[in-house]
Amino acid sequence: MVKKIFIKTFGCQMNEYDSNRIFDTVKKIGFLKTSNQSEADCYLINTCHIRDKAKEKVYHEVGRVKKIFRNKKKPLFIVAGCVAQAENEEMLKREPYIDIVIGPQSYHQINSLISNYKKDQKELTEFETKDKFDYLDKIKNTSSKVSSFLTIQEGCDKFCSFCVVPYTRGPEYSRSFEKIILEAQDLVKSGSKEIILLGQNVNAYSFKGKTKKYRLSDLINELEKFKEIKRIRYTTSHPKDMSDDLIDCYSNSKKLQPFVHLPIQSGSNKILKLMNRSHKVEKYFEIYEKLKKINSKIEFSSDFIIGYPGETDEDFRDTLNFLNKIKFINSYSFLFSPRPGTPASNLDLIDHEVAKDRLIKVQKILFQYQLKHNESFLGKKIEVLVENKMKKNQMYFGRNEYFNGVIFDGNKKLVGQIVKIKIDKVNQNNLFGKIDSNSDMKAA
Ligand code: SAM
Ligand code: SF4
Ligand code: F3S
Repeated sequence: MVKKIFIKTFGCQMNEYDSNRIFDTVKKIGFLKTSNQSEADCYLINTCHIRDKAKEKVYHEVGRVKKIFRNKKKPLFIVAGCVAQAENEEMLKREPYIDIVIGPQSYHQINSLISNYKKDQKELTEFETKDKFDYLDKIKNTSSKVSSFLTIQEGCDKFCSFCVVPYTRGPEYSRSFEKIILEAQDLVKSGSKEIILLGQNVNAYSFKGKTKKYRLSDLINELEKFKEIKRIRYTTSHPKDMSDDLIDCYSNSKKLQPFVHLPIQSGSNKILKLMNRSHKVEKYFEIYEKLKKINSKIEFSSDFIIGYPGETDEDFRDTLNFLNKIKFINSYSFLFSPRPGTPASNLDLIDHEVAKDRLIKVQKILFQYQLKHNESFLGKKIEVLVENKMKKNQMYFGRNEYFNGVIFDGNKKLVGQIVKIKIDKVNQNNLFGKIDSNSDMKAA
């Protein structure tokens, strides 16, 4: 009998990649993917632990699933991802409805866990990233998207005081250069035109091969040679690892997109030090200037944590000054959320109302820059890589070089091509337009 798996993914792109790879794996034991949760034989949630209420979201989800399956056979309920890693057997004790808890470094064992599952609940939260990739390398990545994620690095050794990632994803691990390129070949064969290289610290990628040490720049240079690949991106990078060889790629590569997501967290050196960020504001600005000198079209986005313990009005002003200096075109900003087990979790919080007020101020400015950037495309013809038809209507979706979503009147022949779109409307999140009938449709 055919078995169906429903996978719900929370969190970052690395979780999205993992969910795809989990599916590639369970296919081997006869599972088909379903988007209808009520017909699932196996219900898997891939969780994120980065900010508060992560754990509660899992129990809330269990409650929902219990209701859906009230009158039916219960699905095998699996909790994967970073909450699974952080909470491990505690989850099994608290919620008997959960059958399996599996951390991000143990996915290579998911098939045997499912196949051998008996009534007793199982938990696997080891930290052998090598074993995981040794196993996954043998399983084809079947993503057939125009834009595909490709994880090259996992984990983190940086231990920023606020962050759970070093505890949930383990130490920094870089995959084999050759295996990454082989996976890219598979993706290209299935129709990928854009590769987004992923890692919690993607620019810390470092793999010792037989003849040389490979860095992120080597991967970019190698992908550049694939004629089918039209665009290359990477995320998320750390200012400390923005090495000159990577910066040089912006001079040499025609496919590396002119958009850099580089989190800073705060514009105050005092706060960066308290956060154990291992870089200063000046270092960030230096990177910014080097890249702008190479190509003035390069734009930046960032992550900000607002209301970190010890953040004064002056520190906050430094953050505002900083973002006014760089004029980020798109950024994420969050209130500091104390995470259990991290060094910052026991620090005295600043007044919640003050923190909230600061977040509102930051977001107002960030959104203004975002909108202004989007408005700069009004009336212009821009190159868009067409990704898919939209689910809700007849329109098509693609992205420009800055990763802005572009919605337009396409057709299915254009999927996977770069086309020129004339932008006639924008909002904060998307650009809207029409195919430019006067130009050669295929721009690249
Ligand atoms: N490795 C990346 C870096 O060094 O910037 C960040 C990866 S983390 C998964 C994504 C973002 O979540 C961080 O940049 C940070 O802004 C946010 N974040 C992490 N821990 C947080 C916390 N305790 N409270 C609020 N935001 C947090
Ligand atoms: Fe978290 Fe810092 Fe590591 Fe980024 S560098 S994943 S913020 S500990
Ligand atoms: Fe969340 Fe884990 Fe990613 S905590 S942000 S899913 S690395």
